[in-house]
Amino acid sequence: CGIVGYIGNDNAQSILIDGLKRLEYRGYDSAGIATLNIKNGSCQTLVRKSFGKLENLCNFLKKSPCRGTVGIGHTRWATHGKPSTENAHPHSCNRISVVHNGIIENYHEILEELLAQKRKILSQTDTEIIAHLIALEKSKGNNLKKAMQNALLKIKGAFALAVLDENEPNHILCAKEGSPLIIGEGDDAMFVASDFPALLPYTNKFLVLKDGDIADISKQSINIFDKKGTKKKRETKVISYSAKMIEKGEYKHFLHKEIHEQPKAIADTILGRLKFKGQNIWLEGIDTQKLKAINRVLIVACGTSFHSAMIGKQIIEEKAKIPVEIELASEFRYRNCILDKNTLVIGISQSGETADTIGALNSAKSRGMALLAICNAIDSAIARLCEDDAGIFYTRAGPEISVASTKAFTTQVAALHLLALTFAYLNKSLHKGEILKEIEKLKTIPKVIESVLACEKDIAKVAQNVASADHMLFLGRGILYPIALEGALKMKEISYLHAEGYAAGEMKHGPIALIDENMPVVVLAAKGQGYEKIVSNLEEVKARNGRVLVLCDKNDKKLIKRSDMNFLLPFCDSTILPFVAAIPLQLFAYHVALIRGTDVDQPRNLAKSVTVE
Ligand code: G6P
Repeated sequence: CGIVGYIGNDNAQSILIDGLKRLEYRGYDSAGIATLNIKNGSCQTLVRKSFGKLENLCNFLKKSPCRGTVGIGHTRWATHGKPSTENAHPHSCNRISVVHNGIIENYHEILEELLAQKRKILSQTDTEIIAHLIALEKSKGNNLKKAMQNALLKIKGAFALAVLDENEPNHILCAKEGSPLIIGEGDDAMFVASDFPALLPYTNKFLVLKDGDIADISKQSINIFDKKGTKKKRETKVISYSAKMIEKGEYKHFLHKEIHEQPKAIADTILGRLKFKGQNIWLEGIDTQKLKAINRVLIVACGTSFHSAMIGKQIIEEKAKIPVEIELASEFRYRNCILDKNTLVIGISQSGETADTIGALNSAKSRGMALLAICNAIDSAIARLCEDDAGIFYTRAGPEISVASTKAFTTQVAALHLLALTFAYLNKSLHKGEILKEIEKLKTIPKVIESVLACEKDIAKVAQNVASADHMLFLGRGILYPIALEGALKMKEISYLHAEGYAAGEMKHGPIALIDENMPVVVLAAKGQGYEKIVSNLEEVKARNGRVLVLCDKNDKKLIKRSDMNFLLPFCDSTILPFVAAIPLQLFAYHVALIRGTDVDQPRNLAKSVTVE
């Protein structure tokens, strides 16, 4: 879910809607705003909510605007209670209005208590009970701040909250526990949001709230307290992102723009980030001393980031000869995985806010493990969790707005490469000269990707031929296996076409039963990645009348001849192969999605940052 808040001298509605538009990637099944409007000396709360995408709310507001210069807004990704207008936020009780991101774990117990007190509950959300708890505390004579403090003591779970009180229109109260929340400082105005992009047109001065913080925000001041009311100091940071970075520019979709941004994103992630200082190796953001004793790595991640972890495993094992395990963050947390003090736990996350990954890292931390983060979002929860540990390596992908991840993925792979080289130097698997050579190779990636992007028209033609299929299979071996999984994931996410990624060798153990003339099979092939075997797998598909789409080297005449359609790559050695092979499959999914007319940037049911488990 996405939260925004504004207190200042301008029309709150337009700022809230503008902010919500930029946060819509966090959820888009319903939206709402509340403002405080002072008329003839008395204050009134105005609430407007709509089911579905933000556009519906905008249309509603055209007919029925919310006046006032103070307000809060929300765009929802349903957890408790189905998407509907009554479940949309803000939720109000008496004169209190609340927007919330997260999950209240003791919701049912509190609900029962409230119902026993004959309180009228209008929605099926866990958020409404927060409004009731605060209102109850206010009815005891507390001011809003004290009422918030008392109410929060009763709540268990994850939350980011912004609260308005009609009786105290000069401030907004916020609280954070688990879910992200930032405050933007303006001129005689303050802003609240779940993430930086929402506020970039207004300010680049931010204060990031920490867990347990309660913030009291007026036009000119921010006061932060803990739950007991003790004042806390939080540093204001200036960030270098510009509003332009979060606009589509010449592109129709963010996804398309972000695919095309990959040469720059990868260059930014690699250049100047790994250096030698005398005999010591230096990797930006990482305490390399802490890596010296490491003899085993465990990587936790979700979704696309998990696919980059799969590639990272192969690179680290090959370059640094250190065993690497990978585990879905949601599984790791609830399993008693064997760890020892020489294991490094790495969390990979674009957003740095994925609840499953945060949970996995917290559980590793509680077991005394060293933590390292590969993260795109600056100052995010995952970054903060690792900053005083082995450190954070920031991928420099820039803001990724499209829900389906593209440039974050390839920059994560770049980051893992640099980390593998660091380990390789520390444990003497590679010497300095070999590492410098590898870095030179990595530097060639942006140019090679550009040449693949230039073939987009050919890829669009392939898409045209298969977009009406119901199912698709993606096969790969070696480093191309995770790329096959990622290709299938992109296809599912944005085109709603059922796609499976499979290790090519496993096809004969199951998916082969699905193959017929209606089943396009994308075969990813490259020399050195089980090439001969994958050629046999391709024949197995052809023998069952499957339609074969091959991704291979443009000079691989043998495979081109055997394929029905193809995605051709320039020659790539194994270092640059995963980066380059990912690109045609991203573009392929994009063009299939365009033909199928789906919502490319905000596919149904998905959210960019899943801040609940
Ligand atoms: C969500 C997004 C995916 C993303 C995953 C992990 O499911 O829709 O695109 O890969 O979360 O996100 P993270 O921010 O942790 O990389």
